[in-house]
Amino acid sequence: MRIDLFSIFPEYFAPVGLSLLGKADDAGLVDLRVHDLRDWTHDRHRTVDDTPFGGGAGMVMMPSVWGEAIDEVVAEASASGEEGRRVLAIPTPSGTPLTQRMAEDLARCSHLLVACGRYEGIDQRVADHYREAGLEVLEYSIGDYVLNGGEAAALVLVEAVTRLLDGFMGNPESIVEESHSNGLLEYPAYTKPRTWRGLEVPEVLLGGDHARIARWRRDRSLERTA
Ligand code: ADE
Repeated sequence: MRIDLFSIFPEYFAPVGLSLLGKADDAGLVDLRVHDLRDWTHDRHRTVDDTPFGGGAGMVMMPSVWGEAIDEVVAEASASGEEGRRVLAIPTPSGTPLTQRMAEDLARCSHLLVACGRYEGIDQRVADHYREAGLEVLEYSIGDYVLNGGEAAALVLVEAVTRLLDGFMGNPESIVEESHSNGLLEYPAYTKPRTWRGLEVPEVLLGGDHARIARWRRDRSLERTA
């Protein structure tokens, strides 16, 4: 999967070089590219925003800069033989709440572009234009709170999606069992020692009766979900 991240703070994405995601990048499972939006400006001050029509506080990111950035990267990806489903994801507190189902769906696309807004967001015509032009556009939120920009929400999306790619996880079973994947929250997990600060591991997990363990875990999942 190819992922293009656009931001005026490209340094924000240094963490993608860490951990499993960095390894997936090195292994060629994901082709992750970070872009400085200001590279598509044309003035001395590298301006990306302007005052809102209709008045009000804050600044709005201009559609012209975003249009040039997205057009160029889409054209380059197409020219380099990049085929399959392409999605433009725009993090915004007014977007659709991100769910595991959405992450699973996005894990099936071949090219993900994430446009991170700052200030009061990106001019609405960017999403509207690309939707009209036939690109799949996803305006999504990671929760009912407001961040200073879309970068943290982009990292959340990238991590939620890439860990679902074939070959990403050492043990794919951990994806099958985890919270949200089957509509239930995951059962509690325990490891050694058997007693810690007076707290015991539930007896059933120590007995080796796999049917009983499976039943117990399902009961705990149902309980947590309820
Ligand atoms: N940008 C600012 N706040 C956000 C949120 N809650 N989700 C996604 N993008 C955002």
